[in-house]
Amino acid sequence: MIYAVVNTKGGVGKTTTAVHLATMLARQGKTLMIDGDPQASAASWAAWRRESPQFTPSPTTTCLTGKAILVEGKQLAEGFEYVVVDAGGRDSIALRSALLLAKKAIIPIDASHLDAAAMTDLMTVVELARDYNPDLEVRVLLTRVDSRTKDAAEMLEFLNEQKLTVLPTKVCERVAFRRAIGEGAIVQELGKDQAAINEIEAFFKEIQA
Ligand SMILES: Nc1ncnc2c1ncn2[C@@H]1O[C@H](COP(=O)(O)OP(=O)(O)O)[C@@H](O)[C@H]1O
Ligand SMILES: [Mg+2]
Repeated sequence: MIYAVVNTKGGVGKTTTAVHLATMLARQGKTLMIDGDPQASAASWAAWRRESPQFTPSPTTTCLTGKAILVEGKQLAEGFEYVVVDAGGRDSIALRSALLLAKKAIIPIDASHLDAAAMTDLMTVVELARDYNPDLEVRVLLTRVDSRTKDAAEMLEFLNEQKLTVLPTKVCERVAFRRAIGEGAIVQELGKDQAAINEIEAFFKEIQA
């Protein structure tokens, strides 16, 4: 199964989602994480992780750019049960390649920041990908949700109008996610925030359904 974690925007939680997904998948089978973002934050996370041998298992991680995400990614995927692509935060060849390679696209959306113009751009890219990859399943994950406000409710209304399938789980803004990434870990491995763990595990169940 090949997953792509995509959004034309940065800072929405793509890398956080991708490394959690890839690490949880690595517990089930051989997993490849392709870092397709020139900022290479997923690859940095993977390097930090190698410094802490207690964090195991790990996804095999590699960086690919542009069209290589599709052509090289397709070749590499043959050796793995699961592939997760963390695609860059803008409309790029890398992002389009990721959407052609994948079977399931996960779109993390920062629920605290409704950016309708950016969403429209993103929808255009997704629609175009579907013309060439008709089996692509697209799921929105609301991230960085502030549980005290109505942000997520407004965002949900907007997404429903766009006819996008939103996963029931919402990932809230929690320091545990930030800390885990900084240590080359996932929230389960730090074990300090049960709410964060519950959220990411619920997401994992839903995306595999
Ligand atoms: N659920 C969350 N709670 C708290 N901080 C988060 C959460 N998701 C992401 N962040 C933080 O927000 C910033 C952007 O997240 P990141 O996953 O790198 O997004 P992207 O890959 O889309 O640019 C990072 O500093 C990250 O630690
Ligand atoms: Mg990123």
